[in-house]
Amino acid sequence: MRILLIGGGGREHAFAWKLAQDPGCSALFIAPGNAGTAECGTNVPLLPTDFPAIRDFVLREGIEMVVVGPEEPLVRGIADYFQADAALASVPIIGPSAAGAQLEGSKAFAKKFMERWGIPTARYREVTRVVEGVVFMGTLSPPYVLKADGLAAGKGVLILDDPGDAELALESMLAGQFGEASRRVVIEQFLRGVEFSVFVLTDGQTYKILPEAKDYKRVGEGDTGPNTGGMGAVSPVPFFDAELRRRVEERIIQPTLQGLKAEGIPYKGFIFFGLMNVGGDPYVIEYNCRMGDPETEVVLPRLKNHLTDLFQAVVQGRLSEVEIETLPQTAVTVMLTAGGYPGNYRKGDLIDMTPHAGCLYLHAGTKRDAEGRLLTQGGRVMAITSLGADIASAAEQSLRAAEDVHFEGKYYRRDIGRDLL
Ligand code: AMP
Ligand code: GLY
Repeated sequence: MRILLIGGGGREHAFAWKLAQDPGCSALFIAPGNAGTAECGTNVPLLPTDFPAIRDFVLREGIEMVVVGPEEPLVRGIADYFQADAALASVPIIGPSAAGAQLEGSKAFAKKFMERWGIPTARYREVTRVVEGVVFMGTLSPPYVLKADGLAAGKGVLILDDPGDAELALESMLAGQFGEASRRVVIEQFLRGVEFSVFVLTDGQTYKILPEAKDYKRVGEGDTGPNTGGMGAVSPVPFFDAELRRRVEERIIQPTLQGLKAEGIPYKGFIFFGLMNVGGDPYVIEYNCRMGDPETEVVLPRLKNHLTDLFQAVVQGRLSEVEIETLPQTAVTVMLTAGGYPGNYRKGDLIDMTPHAGCLYLHAGTKRDAEGRLLTQGGRVMAITSLGADIASAAEQSLRAAEDVHFEGKYYRRDIGRDLL
């Protein structure tokens, strides 16, 4: 099968790495990809949201399946665009319709959906005026969680301790701090617990649970400092035991899929459940309509199945026939970031690396210059994944490998997984 993979981060390098070993994948193109994906297939300089350019490429290259990595093309309706075009309608997309992608594209939609289907999540109020928000915050105890309704590149959530600060923050969000995305704000009760992520692949009828993961979102060690896209990840998550898994399936996954079906929302793709374990009870913090980054960098290395087998089953609506097979080892990934990230960061620094055997170097923000030299290109530069008998040994292997990747301003957290030991 000739596959086009959309996206260009560490998640897409992980997908490309997996697809490159897949006998069902005869040709792989990545749009736009990065220096790492170029080793797994052919990068093509297309913007993920330029649907007409993607259309031309798909038709010209005889693409037989499109796998969508990031949320933005999904929220903007890439699946619907294909469906509506006679020439493209037979090319399956792994990723939901715009209606399904609203689970991520609108926090207000997601909260109302959970309310309709009795899915546990923090108490909330959707507001467009400061005064409504202040009244609702008066019923909560701090800290206050303010979320931009729309997509804000992972930056649209603010957590504030002081009611005065929260009011000011709400004011600036509603005034357009995150553009149109924050003209509507969801205010939530703060949940205390430990976060973890569960991923399912669904064909719209049934679902399969992939290996779970825990992400490390804050930039600093000990979970301090500003939020990032993710500084590292671990899979499996030791506290995700059979009982917690049962609760997640019964209280969250099954009602979510029932809700989508009952509301007539087609969904063939991944659902990422960002969850909080509150004393053994799972609550939904957020839905994403795609896989996580850097969670994919630990999930796929543990997956034994070929992705094309799973994707074909999704397309043909026979996912119930497949079994997910997982390696027993623990995977840990450590993200190397550019100096300054998640604020303004350096770009274009030369990367000099000595690879360690057994480690997987999944490029996030890298490119090659005209002379073929490897350069930094994004805030998250490269994820180093290792498999080990346990978290400590996998983390140690990735950390040792991280020392042998050099670029100006390199930063990484040395405590990924330590809280789980
Ligand atoms: P989100 O983009 O919705 O995942 O939010 C970003 C981060 O904010 C999450 O990963 C959590 O760490 C935190 N967060 C979001 N909602 C809540 C909540 N209701 N209670 C506690 N923490 C939250
Ligand atoms: N690592 C969090 C996300 O992909 O949204």
